[in-house]
Amino acid sequence: MDEPEPLTPVVVRSLMEGAERYRSLFTHNPHAVFSLDLQGSYTDVNLATQEMTGYTPAEMRGMSYRDVIAPGEVERVAAEFAAVVAGEPRRLETCIRHKDGALVEIALVGLPVVIEGDVVGVHGLAEDISLRTRTSRELHEAREAADAANVAKSLFVANMSHELRTPLTTIVATAELLEDTGLTELQARFVQGMLRGGKRLARLIEDILDISRIEAGVLTLQPAPFDPHLLLYDVCSWAREQATRKGLRFDLVVDPGLCRGLVGDTLRLQQILTNLLDNAVKFTEHGFVELSARSAAAAPGATTLHIGVRDSGVGVPSELCQSIFDPFSQADPSATRRHEGAGLGLAICRELVDLMDGELSLTSALGHGTDVSLAFTLPTASAPTG
Ligand SMILES: Nc1ncnc2c1ncn2[C@@H]1O[C@H](COP(=O)(O)OP(=O)(O)OP(=O)(O)O)[C@@H](O)[C@H]1O
Ligand SMILES: [Mg+2]
Repeated sequence: MDEPEPLTPVVVRSLMEGAERYRSLFTHNPHAVFSLDLQGSYTDVNLATQEMTGYTPAEMRGMSYRDVIAPGEVERVAAEFAAVVAGEPRRLETCIRHKDGALVEIALVGLPVVIEGDVVGVHGLAEDISLRTRTSRELHEAREAADAANVAKSLFVANMSHELRTPLTTIVATAELLEDTGLTELQARFVQGMLRGGKRLARLIEDILDISRIEAGVLTLQPAPFDPHLLLYDVCSWAREQATRKGLRFDLVVDPGLCRGLVGDTLRLQQILTNLLDNAVKFTEHGFVELSARSAAAAPGATTLHIGVRDSGVGVPSELCQSIFDPFSQADPSATRRHEGAGLGLAICRELVDLMDGELSLTSALGHGTDVSLAFTLPTASAPTG
């Protein structure tokens, strides 16, 4: 062992300086810093402790931490104090009662004071977090109120859309009847215009109805056994016609091992694929649209269905590939854009995919086409269907 340094005046001075430096750190620390003996009585407190508790250092020296901690918290803090006395540093959030009776929320750190291997006391450090916790509580409450208002808004929109849909259905049906009443060429053109507008409006209302139902949390899935092959052929016949009409090639690429039976909401799966294929055809002027599918065994009794929708169209600027899923978001929002649509299709797809615990990703670059991948892990249907 090293010999202790002889207590020369220089050594004494440096020891005193060191002690003074630590004293100053203790006294002027902006956090409440204090020392307790092993019974939990205050032996030293700094200015910030005095401000936080309202007691003078002289008053505190005769008190125990139990006199300061809020009554309901004493037991919990006592357990933590015992752990610190056993040598374990502790950190907790609790509450004290100020001398004037007010409750103050604090973040507290307790450290054992160890001298030559023995715990001889406890150092404490505390910070007033009342403002922080109040702010976060208020934020939480404001958020809950906003969420509730959002649900109320979505329910209102859902109800309104329903009210709009009913008379619109009558208008469209009447226009269809009118079409067959021996109209002149000019009259027939007017009626066709009415029908086109009516159907477009009806689709928009359906989309608004869907998105608000999903946002209000009232859209539920209707799972049933289905054959993925039939799902693909159903959407395909419609999409092939749209693509061919625009002079595009339409490819359906089905993996020979694609499973025959799954359990899922086919109507909603169809809706997702229709929206994606509608986009692929709409935003492609030359080349192809491709729908592909394969399946892979997942957990026992479950299969992952992978579906891809690819096109050689205008593409989406890569920096918009995420935000394009927000409702009403479009790569070209200008009033002069060439394509119809409200910007709801992808938002609905994302929400429906989330509802099904599936995955959806879109990769694209301007001028290089778009590639959308979907993956759904679904229960395998016990018997082939269809
Ligand atoms: N395959 C695609 N190729 C190029 N751009 C696409 C493609 N799919 C989506 N987009 C871009 O993303 C935007 C949002 O698509 P989304 O389907 O949500 O809306 P929309 O097709 O404009 O309108 P809606 O689907 O409501 O009729 C589109 O306006 C378009 O700019
Ligand atoms: Mg769309």
